[in-house]
Amino acid sequence: MSSSLPTTNLPLTLNGAAIALHDVSPTQTLLSYLRQHGYVGTKEGCGDGDCGACTVVMVGADATGQPQYQAVNSCLLPIGSLGGRHIYTVEGIANGHLHPVQQAMVDLGGSQCGYCTPGFIMSLFAGYYSDRVAAEVTVEGNLCRCTGYLPIRRAAQRVAAESHGDDGFSALLRQVPTQLEGTAYSAQGQQFYRPIQLAAVLELLAAHPDATLVAGATDLGLEMSWYRQHYPVMIALEAVAELQQLEQTDDVVTIGAAVPLSQIEERLRGVFPSLDEMLYWFAARQVRNRATLGGNLGTASPIGDLLPVLLALDATIHVASATGQREIAIADFFQGYRVTALRTGEVIVSITLPTTQPIAVAQRLSQSYKVGKRGTDDISIVAAAYRVDLDAQNRVVAARLAYGGVGATPVRAIAVEEWLVGQPWTWETVLAAKEQLRSAFTPMSDLRGSADYRQRLIANLLEKFFVEFAPSEQGERVG
Ligand SMILES: Cc1cc2nc3c(=O)[nH]c(=O)nc-3n(C[C@H](O)[C@H](O)[C@H](O)COP(=O)(O)OP(=O)(O)OC[C@H]3O[C@@H](n4cnc5c(N)ncnc54)[C@H](O)[C@@H]3O)c2cc1C
Ligand code: FES
Ligand code: FES
Repeated sequence: MSSSLPTTNLPLTLNGAAIALHDVSPTQTLLSYLRQHGYVGTKEGCGDGDCGACTVVMVGADATGQPQYQAVNSCLLPIGSLGGRHIYTVEGIANGHLHPVQQAMVDLGGSQCGYCTPGFIMSLFAGYYSDRVAAEVTVEGNLCRCTGYLPIRRAAQRVAAESHGDDGFSALLRQVPTQLEGTAYSAQGQQFYRPIQLAAVLELLAAHPDATLVAGATDLGLEMSWYRQHYPVMIALEAVAELQQLEQTDDVVTIGAAVPLSQIEERLRGVFPSLDEMLYWFAARQVRNRATLGGNLGTASPIGDLLPVLLALDATIHVASATGQREIAIADFFQGYRVTALRTGEVIVSITLPTTQPIAVAQRLSQSYKVGKRGTDDISIVAAAYRVDLDAQNRVVAARLAYGGVGATPVRAIAVEEWLVGQPWTWETVLAAKEQLRSAFTPMSDLRGSADYRQRLIANLLEKFFVEFAPSEQGERVG
């Protein structure tokens, strides 16, 4: 039982061999452990999830619940979360001869200095056993500074064409259970619990009120990797059944707080265009394989990209504590810079998003936009998520204009939303709304962009939204 006293051994399988960790700090990163123990093929580049040099592969569940190899950044993975996991590093995939993905990189000249190569290899390895990951997306989270991407992309294309390899690694996927067991591990004065039921989480929180919750660790992992942050008690949420649900009924979608974003991306594709779009631009594959919606809300960063989307979609946050459960409307969730409405002892269990629309609505327009210094794997300068409901006369019935990167919290332009109601959804209306948006917020200047630039983005993104959905000259809608 995960809520029982922690043990001093943590069993896991590394490159096919069962091992038990002992006296290894649960908050040490897997990358640091690997390199200390001779697995130096796994490289450290940035140490914060940006470069992919440290990529290893872990068996996890795919969107259908089947076991799947998943590329993850070992620099962000705390040791404590690895109990019972199957992990592969670049040392573990050549079985007497090069693995086909290694051979592809050799044949197509995908490596020059070689520093990034193990990371690319492991991302390609995960892609090789998946029929759902397109070639380019497989390596989107890996950076190379010297080879140039063309040979690597060619190798990725060959791997995508050859995937579904039937070998010992695919046989393993047929044997490994995806349901993790509960673990409780203690070392070096730190305790790390990974319960499998919400009741156990709440029990642990009652016993350890100062415990730190951790889901995918793509935010907290930085604290461990860069700052060697010491957490006396951590409670991992990744194996908790109630937080792993993802359901769709006639009028609502329920997303468990600990469902990895890559699963949301796959299973909800087409349901909410603004969510699809923002997930596409969210970090890269390795991060999305671990990051969660609960973690994005828990961090409550003003530049948390999914938060404007949740604001625009009128999400409801369902939380639980030892004293009961309650719902928090997303509009009431953000209370200040990284301050939320969560009370001590509360856990986010799920997020619900309504899918129905009022009867007066003839058309719902919905989209999101992220502006950063580069396309993928970058922090937003401004993010926007819009939802505009129109009646049969093309008048605005309801509007949601939500932004990130414009203040201390993710925020809606409520005054402009209210002004829009009843207006015709025309170019003139949008130009007038733009004028109001220019002074709706007081964003700051920083190294990513000036306040003036942000103010222009806040207004211009609404125009982009209008143009994308405006009727074309042929009378059809564009976008
Ligand atoms: C390389 C890189 C790129 C990134 N790119 C983006 C990006 O494009 N857009 C973006 O928005 N973010 C980005 N992030 C940040 C991060 O991935 C997200 O904030 C992510 O959603 C965090 O989820 P997690 O499960 O990893 O959270 P964790 O790190 O596990 O937790 C984060 C916080 O939330 C709390 N928490 C987690 N789950 C719960 C819960 N169920 N109930 C209550 N509290 C909870 C934790 O206690 C902690 O305080 C990036 C991070 C990295 C390393
Ligand atoms: S070292 Fe760069 S992503 Fe881990
Ligand atoms: S081969 Fe040198 S960084 Fe990629």
